[in-house]
Amino acid sequence: MSKKNTNYISIKESRAILKHNIKQMKYYESLKRRKRSVEDYTTTMRDSNNVVEIEGLKTVFFTDNGTVMSVNGVSFDIPKNKVVGVVGESGCGKSVTSLSIMQLVQAPQGQVIEGKIRFNTDDLGMDGDKKLAYDIVQMPTSELYKIRGKDITMIFQEPMTSLNPVFTIGNQLDEVLFVHTPEITPEEAKAHSIEMLKKVGIAMPERVYKSYPHELSGGMRQRVMIAMALSGNPKLIIADEPTTALDVTIQAQILELLKELQRSQGCSIMLITHDLGVIAEMADEVVVMYAGKVIEKGTASEIFHNPLHPYTIGLQKSKPLITSPSDQPLFSIPGQVPNPINLPDTCYFKNRCNRCIGKCDGKYPEMIKVSDTHYVSCYLYEKEEK
Ligand SMILES: Nc1ncnc2c1ncn2[C@@H]1O[C@H](COP(=O)(O)OP(=O)(O)O)[C@@H](O)[C@H]1O
Ligand code: SF4
Ligand SMILES: [Mg+2]
Repeated sequence: MSKKNTNYISIKESRAILKHNIKQMKYYESLKRRKRSVEDYTTTMRDSNNVVEIEGLKTVFFTDNGTVMSVNGVSFDIPKNKVVGVVGESGCGKSVTSLSIMQLVQAPQGQVIEGKIRFNTDDLGMDGDKKLAYDIVQMPTSELYKIRGKDITMIFQEPMTSLNPVFTIGNQLDEVLFVHTPEITPEEAKAHSIEMLKKVGIAMPERVYKSYPHELSGGMRQRVMIAMALSGNPKLIIADEPTTALDVTIQAQILELLKELQRSQGCSIMLITHDLGVIAEMADEVVVMYAGKVIEKGTASEIFHNPLHPYTIGLQKSKPLITSPSDQPLFSIPGQVPNPINLPDTCYFKNRCNRCIGKCDGKYPEMIKVSDTHYVSCYLYEKEEK
C-alpha cells in the first residue's frame, strides 16, 4: 500500500477527519463513563515480582491532521526495586506512555485505545497462586485516585509547572499527606514534611518549609518535588526527564539522590530520558523506544555492551563521552522519524537504517528473544526457519 508523503489536507479530507475524530472521541469517552465493578478492572500479575506490567499499550491523539499513533503497542515490565530507563529521541512516546500509566493523557483527544497496564497492588489479595492486580486502563479515574499520587507518583522536568506558586512548600507537602492520610494531624504532617525535606538533602528544612517555590533554585525545587513524590512511600516513581532543565553538576547530584532514595525506600523508578548517559548511571533495565514502539529492551549491561538494533547502536554513537575530543563533531543518525499519522507498513527505522536486508521490505519486524532478558525488533536477528 502506498502512503501519501505530504502534509497537505484538502477540505474534504479535513471534514472526514473531523467526523471520524468526533465519533471516536465520543465512543472512548462513553466507555470511561460506563459503570464498572471491581471485577471489571481486576486482573492478575504475570509475575508478582513486577510493580507494573504494560502489555500492548496503544495511546492515540485524534488531531485535525489525523490520528497520531503516539504509543503503538508498547509492552514492558517494571520489576520491584529496580530502575527501568526508557530512552529514545524526542517525540517517540516516552511521556505519553507514562501519562497513560497515570491516566493523565489529555482527553478527549488523547485516548488509550488498546492494551493493559497491570498494577501490583496489595489491596486485592491473591487468586490462587497469582497476585491480583488493577488494570489501570479499565479502572475508573475515581478509583485510580487511591493509587495516583500515593502508590505511583511522578517527577516532571520542570518543577515550577507542578508546584503551585501561591502556596508555601510546606503547604504543598502537607497537602499530599492530608489527601492520602486524612487522619493525620497538622502537627504530624508538618513533622513528616520537614523529615522528607531533610531526607532529600535540604540543609535548612524549616526555612524551606515556609518558602514559596520562586524563592528556591531549580535544583532545590527538584529536591522538593522528589520529597513530594516520596512522601506517601510509593511503589513506583515516574521521573520524566527529571534533570534535563538543570545544569550538569546539579543534575549529577539529583540523580545520585534519586538512586540513593530508591535503594533506601525500596521502590521502583521509571526513568524517562533522551540521554543515554543518564541511563548508564542509573538504570538496571533499559527500554529503547522509536516512533511509539519498543525496538529493543534488556538489562543495562546488555543494552550498553551488546546493543543490537541499528537505532540503539546509533544512539550510543551519538552519546558524548568525557574522553571524546571536544573538536570532534557528535555523530547523529541521519534522516527523520516517520510521521506518526502516516506510519509505514515496514520497519519504522528503515529509511534511516544502514544495515537493511531483503526482509526489511516486508512487514514490521516482530520482537525477537535474544536472551531471557534481551529482546530486539529487527530482521537482522531473526533465526533461519528450520
Ligand atoms: N496533546 C497532544 N496532542 C497531540 N499529539 C500529542 C500530544 N501529546 C503528545 N503528542 C504526540 O505524541 C507523540 C509522542 O509524544 P511524547 O510522548 O510527548 O514524546 P517524548 O518521547 O518526547 O516524551 C509525539 O508525536 C507528539 O507530537
Ligand atoms: S529491521 Fe531492517 S530496516 Fe529495520 S532496523 Fe533492522 S535491519 Fe534496519
Ligand atoms: Mg517527553
